[in-house]
This record gives sequence, structure tokens and C-alpha cells, in this order.
Amino acid sequence: MTTDLLSKDENVIWHQHSVDKQTRAKAKQQKPAVLWFTGLSGAGKSTVAGALEHALTQMGHHTYLLDGDNVRHGLCRDLGFSQQDRRENIRRVGELAKLMADAGLIVLSAFISPHREERQLVRSLLPEDEFLEVFVDASLAVCESRDPKGLYKKARAGEISNFTGIDSEYEAPLSAEITLATGVDSVEQLVQQCLTELRLRQIIA
Ligand code: ADX
Repeated sequence: MTTDLLSKDENVIWHQHSVDKQTRAKAKQQKPAVLWFTGLSGAGKSTVAGALEHALTQMGHHTYLLDGDNVRHGLCRDLGFSQQDRRENIRRVGELAKLMADAGLIVLSAFISPHREERQLVRSLLPEDEFLEVFVDASLAVCESRDPKGLYKKARAGEISNFTGIDSEYEAPLSAEITLATGVDSVEQLVQQCLTELRLRQIIA
């Protein structure tokens, strides 16, 4: 394995294709970006990201929503919820988001992504003005009272282990570009908050 990886580094050479990110983005008449939604399970990441994607497509933008629960049915179906597996989950999805931005898309990603280090790793894959960390800020008490999938109840009963917020930590962002108070504002208000920020950053007109 190690020998294979070493020879790969030495013998696999990056090929620069003639159609590049700029050309793809120009064809879509937009500026690519990655909006990285992070927060506890049940905080509302998928709900707000989905509503924002709807608004963006209505405006004629080309988007893709990467959703933790969905990606874990395919690309990351071999991964569980240990610290190591979550790290690999976020690494893969970060690389995927980077490829999608390279395709000229506005990418919305909704993953708990509980560790600052992994979120920083994804940030480092992209140009500074193309990555926006969106903290979906709802307290554990609020998320647990919503419990849309009944998973908190299972975690409290000891039927699920390593559940974020219960027996696995969540590190809140220290300086997210956007913080959404999902326990306070409506989904529509939160979508407007995101759109305002995207306009300010000249990602959308
Ligand atoms: S992450 O931590 O690796 O970023 P991800 O966002 O992909 O997590 O998946 C989280 C989703 O998996 C949750 O919304 C929940 O539905 C489900 N899930 C199942 N088991 C767990 C667990 N132990 N901890 C957190 N979420 C879990």
C-alpha cells in the first residue's frame, strides 16, 4: 500500500486540460463557490441548504447540493461515525466539492463536519473567496427536541454510539462567514440572509 502510494506520487502527473474552471464558469455565467453548512444533526442544515438551492436555481444559477445522509448511501457508504471515518468522509466530500466548483457550480454541502481541523482542510482546498462556512446554529436542546429522525432518542437509549452532541463532540466554528439562528428565524429569513451575504461577496448579482 505504502509503496503504491509513493510510486503514485512520483509517477502520476497532473494533466492540464484546455477547458478550465474559468471557461466552465463563464459558460454558466456565474462565479463558483462552496457554501459549507455545518451544525448538529437536526439543526436544519439540509432544510436551509435545500431552500437556498431552490432560490438560486430560480434565479438561473447552476448548483449542486451535497447532503451527508445521501452521500453516505453511495460515495461514503463504507464509512461509519468514528473520528477516523468522519475525517475520511469530510476529506472525500471536500475533494468532491472542489471538483464541482471546478465544474463552475455553486455547491451547497450539508454535513455535520464536527471538527474544526477537517473544515479547515476543506477551506484550504479552495481559493479564499470561494469558500463560505455556514454555521447552522441550534442548541443541542433544540435539535434533540426536534429529533426528526428519532436518532437522539436512540442515542440516549444507547442504541447508537458516537452520536454527535451525545457521546461525540461538536466543535462550533470560531469565525464562520455566515451564522444562521435556525431556532429563531424562519427558513425564508435564513435564505434571504444567505442571499444577502452572497451578493455582498459578489458571488451572485
Ligand atoms: S459527519 O459527522 O461525518 O459530517 P454526516 O453529515 O455525513 O456526518 O452524517 C450525519 C447524519 O448521519 C446525521 O444527520 C444522522 O442522520 C446520521 N447519523 C447516523 N449515526 C450518526 C452518528 N453516530 N452521529 C451523527 N449522525 C449520525
